[in-house]
Amino acid sequence: MKVYNLQENISPIIEDIKKKGKSIGFVPTMGALHKGHLSLIEEALKQNDVAIMSIFVNPTQFNNQQDLEKYPRTMDRDLELLKTVSDKIIVYAPTVDDIYGENIESAHFDFDGLEFEMEGKFRPGHFDGVGTIVKRLFEIIQPTKAYFGKKDFQQYRIIQKLVENYNIPVSIVGCEIYREKDGLAMSSRNERLNPEHRKASPFIYKVLKTAKEKFGTKSANEVTDWVESQFAEHDLLELEYFIIADEESLKTIHRKSKSKSYRAFIAVYADDIRLIDNIALN
Ligand code: PAF
Repeated sequence: MKVYNLQENISPIIEDIKKKGKSIGFVPTMGALHKGHLSLIEEALKQNDVAIMSIFVNPTQFNNQQDLEKYPRTMDRDLELLKTVSDKIIVYAPTVDDIYGENIESAHFDFDGLEFEMEGKFRPGHFDGVGTIVKRLFEIIQPTKAYFGKKDFQQYRIIQKLVENYNIPVSIVGCEIYREKDGLAMSSRNERLNPEHRKASPFIYKVLKTAKEKFGTKSANEVTDWVESQFAEHDLLELEYFIIADEESLKTIHRKSKSKSYRAFIAVYADDIRLIDNIALN
């Protein structure tokens, strides 16, 4: 398996692949790989001539310095895991310097308001950081298709908007959420959960599933109140937000319309670890 740490080394490889008219499937990640990431790279391998994964903990998308410092970094294990999928995968694992040089700053983006909802409210600057790194990676890798998990549904919608606004010639593929057997959405952050919080955390998906059932007969506000009451009684999990939103605009809804698709979004703290999840409602 080939691993490149510098643009100047990977760029000639990309040029060569492009010259031969081969398609590139790209999976950007921040490492600490789990089965969800592996399912994305498997999809990229199936649908393209070449599969490339980037592993880069992007400093500009962390609004909290401690979160950045504590983010798991497990490069050796990540590479071993990737090898179990295929040794043909190309890895780009740049240094901060290779991406940002001296200037570790985000560009500013207008994502038609998608960036102001949910994660955008609670993690100021986060989507400018995501937009900056993903645009940069798309310039370097020049993928045909890029794969994103729907656990970060808002990010997936924002990346769709990014490629639309900048006319970037890549198709964005959204992949279903990969879950542990007990329902917890897979996330690199899960490995930081202590046993007690890990045991408690499947409650999040359990509540989402019941919220979906209730949404069949109850209003969005009633469902939201019910979810809030479930967490108010919980000793280990603290609700940051639960909202029911239009899948297109990501705006919170107060009244249902039959022609629209809705999704419920949730962010919860398990001790100092922030977990997010979502579920399609109709
Ligand atoms: O979803 C992630 O892991 C990151 O936000 C991404 C897309 C790799 C950008 O750093």
